[in-house]
Amino acid sequence: MLVFIRMGEDPASRVYVGMKEKTAAQLGIESQTIVFPEATAESVLLERLRSLNSDSQTHGILVQAPLPKHISETIVYRTVAPQKDVDGFHPENVGKLMLGDLSGFVPCTPAGVHELLRRSGIEIPGTRAVVLGRGNIVGKPMTAILLQKAPDANSTVTLCHSRTLNIESHCQAADILIAAIGVPEFVKASMVKPGAVVIDVGVNRIPDPTAKKGSRLVGDVAFDEVQPIAGKITPNPGGVGPMTIAMLMRNTVEAASRMAQQS
Ligand code: GUN
Repeated sequence: MLVFIRMGEDPASRVYVGMKEKTAAQLGIESQTIVFPEATAESVLLERLRSLNSDSQTHGILVQAPLPKHISETIVYRTVAPQKDVDGFHPENVGKLMLGDLSGFVPCTPAGVHELLRRSGIEIPGTRAVVLGRGNIVGKPMTAILLQKAPDANSTVTLCHSRTLNIESHCQAADILIAAIGVPEFVKASMVKPGAVVIDVGVNRIPDPTAKKGSRLVGDVAFDEVQPIAGKITPNPGGVGPMTIAMLMRNTVEAASRMAQQS
């Protein structure tokens, strides 16, 4: 059983949790979604997490981010039992990844990007990778994955962020450029080395009076101008999203099988 927790009615979170539920059902993974009103006290959420931690029928727990402002993500992710932390956000799992101990859970989006690179036959060792964005969900763990001492990693990684000087020149040197910075169409053609692999993780909603909703989604990469230069590129929307979900399912199966072995 995979338990999703959603706080409030953030439209994007509803969509993301809905997609995860659907994939779980397709794979025969039982799931349940708990929705708390936006104003729910942190202590109520923590209490629920503790009871799920001790429930032998619950194998994975995912608290969808972003959380309301009065709730501390740090405290919430520390409260999920590390062995049920299919998001890989608990400090124990984060620490294991940093130490190169692959017995923990790895965050789903960067793990999905890594899997995509591997399965696309991209030789990662020796490459220069540039990660744009220092978030805990994508940027930081992505960096940790690519610099692992392992035959499918061993990249030289630069992590750039909003305060990086000469960000363009870092990008221009990248063999692999991963954008998770949250700025619509930030990566322009002039920033990309010919033949580079460009992975767009950004999802940004921008106003568009010609669209039915009055807005549309764009990535962190100006896809139309970068595509002719890049060796390989993923668009957004329509890119890495399903890989995130696939990794979540993989983590959930792993969590359940580890629990079964221990009982
Ligand atoms: N919000 C955006 N990405 C994620 C994710 O991978 N896990 C959770 N829990 N929330 C998210």
